[in-house]
Amino acid sequence: MRAIAVSEYGATPSLMNVPRPEPGPGEILVKVVAAGLNPFDWKVVDGILKDTVEASFPIVLGTDGAGVVEEVGPDVTRFRPGEQVFGGFQDLARGTGTYAEYAIGREDAPIAQMPEGLIYTQAAAVPTASTTAFNLVREAQLDEDQTVLVVGATGGVGQAVVQLAANQGAKVIATAREDMAEEMRGLGAAEIVDHARGDLNGQVLAAHSDGIDTVIDMVSDKAGVERLTTLLRPGGTYLSTIWSLNPDALAAQEIRGVNLQNSSSTGLLEEVGDLIEAGKLKVRIHREVSLEEAPAALARNRAGSSRGKTVIRV
Ligand SMILES: NC(=O)c1ccc[n+]([C@@H]2O[C@H](COP(=O)([O-])OP(=O)(O)OC[C@H]3O[C@@H](n4cnc5c(N)ncnc54)[C@H](OP(=O)(O)O)[C@@H]3O)[C@@H](O)[C@H]2O)c1
Repeated sequence: MRAIAVSEYGATPSLMNVPRPEPGPGEILVKVVAAGLNPFDWKVVDGILKDTVEASFPIVLGTDGAGVVEEVGPDVTRFRPGEQVFGGFQDLARGTGTYAEYAIGREDAPIAQMPEGLIYTQAAAVPTASTTAFNLVREAQLDEDQTVLVVGATGGVGQAVVQLAANQGAKVIATAREDMAEEMRGLGAAEIVDHARGDLNGQVLAAHSDGIDTVIDMVSDKAGVERLTTLLRPGGTYLSTIWSLNPDALAAQEIRGVNLQNSSSTGLLEEVGDLIEAGKLKVRIHREVSLEEAPAALARNRAGSSRGKTVIRV
């Protein structure tokens, strides 16, 4: 089958012909219709998991996907052939992923039936970004009228964070370049600060001289976190998806710091699917590409300027 894969860590992803995987006990084989691109996919190529998982090469890239159950392995009770499913499908130990004609899913993995109102490309954009945003906003414990700065708001995770935080009644300050400002307001941002103009602190303090309650940050390194922490009032909360925080150092400043590792489940995917169907969470697809175009799309995502989700039509 056709797949986008790498033969070693650090290699440039390319289109390869790899064997179609066979579902083992507790596994399903899914004919992938669309795969969702995440920064995690190029981080896998860089070797982010090389000390924790014994991978089989070539590794087919891609965690998120949506498609149709083609076959079920022995002992599978939750799925039947022909069902439309979406969720997380990568298995590095087997070298399988969603940038391919077929992927393997485990019955106990975060995989759910596709909500009726969603098409495959939308469903493939949901699993990692929307569940991470859901967990971030839950962990932030936002009260109504609290002020939250979302750094990286224009990305896949950030766009969902902005909407979910605004749904909770929080006042959302979103980072966005000029061309995305209106879009972010449409998703519920009350204020925009433009990271391309520099001095984020100055822009936030101009309207909030006594500080803010929460930062949800998908972007900043340790130095950036140190700068933005000074915006928080004592008792505030700082969350990072890229593990830039030192929670002990923050606790000494009366700030709750959380490096969030996403954990998903079938129930959470269903909950997020319900929000989308109810119109309470919009998934903005920035770009749809073919399988052949996926390596270039990965390179673009690595370089920045994501304006929402990229989806690969397989
Ligand atoms: N820990 C976990 O479990 C977990 C889960 C999901 C994601 N993540 C990580 O979270 C990060 C974000 O994921 P994503 O899917 O949302 O990525 P994405 O779709 O690529 O979006 C990143 C966004 O950040 C913006 N950005 C870049 N530099 C910025 C800056 N200095 N200030 C403000 N915004 C900036 C980018 O826009 P411009 O380039 O135009 O500025 C882009 O819109 C990734 O590193 C991902 O691996 C971690």
